[in-house]
Amino acid sequence: MRLAKYLAEAGIASRRKAEEMIALGRVKVNGQLIQKQGVKINPEEDVVEVDDKIVRKTGSDKIYILLNKPAGYISSVHDPQGRPTVVDLIKNINTRIYPVGRLDFDTEGLLLLTNDGEFTNLMIHPRYKITKKYEAWVKGNITEEALNILRRGVILEDGITAPAGVKIVKRKKDKTLLEIKIHEGRKRQIKRMCAAVGYPVIKLKRTAFAFLNLEGLDTGEYRYLTLDEVKKLKQIALNEGVKS
Ligand code: URA
Repeated sequence: MRLAKYLAEAGIASRRKAEEMIALGRVKVNGQLIQKQGVKINPEEDVVEVDDKIVRKTGSDKIYILLNKPAGYISSVHDPQGRPTVVDLIKNINTRIYPVGRLDFDTEGLLLLTNDGEFTNLMIHPRYKITKKYEAWVKGNITEEALNILRRGVILEDGITAPAGVKIVKRKKDKTLLEIKIHEGRKRQIKRMCAAVGYPVIKLKRTAFAFLNLEGLDTGEYRYLTLDEVKKLKQIALNEGVKS
């Protein structure tokens, strides 16, 4: 297997960034510095190090991917209308993977994909309360009163929303950038919350999911989660599940 592919699949970085890391002299195979592209390794036998730390692969048939979703892709495996799907962005996968929850067609940002149904259930079930962070540009200059309603709970047709963390990041002449943290995952929740208080969303991006963020990933890029990240996500969900 090519070294950059191995690093990408081990969750170190996207394949392009892994190539940069190799060129920068950060990668060793069996103790030997490798700066050439295209070197092949045997994942079963060779010891790969990045910044002098040994890289471990997931070592199972389960796949966990963190994608920086672009707008214009649908969060499903197949679209009857023929629109591009998030799965189309993931290359060289020979097993069926699907998104963990959904981001709208026009929403960007952090989306997980996997072939692990149990993991998906832990991540999306409201009982497990995984925190999701969004950046939302809303139309107009939002008032303190509207912010407080968003924080306390907004009445939507499917019930009042749970308390949310809401901060202003930036104000422009006729729009406001908000950071919103929620742990529910209702359909179009952020857009419906903001519209309900009179400030419709113009642009939406998910920037964090639990402790995961988009660092090092441009729009459309992805990386594999590390074994430790998967373990930690499961722990967070299960701890929250016990509390509720
Ligand atoms: N809330 C929305 O309104 N849309 C999304 O895609 C995600 C959260």
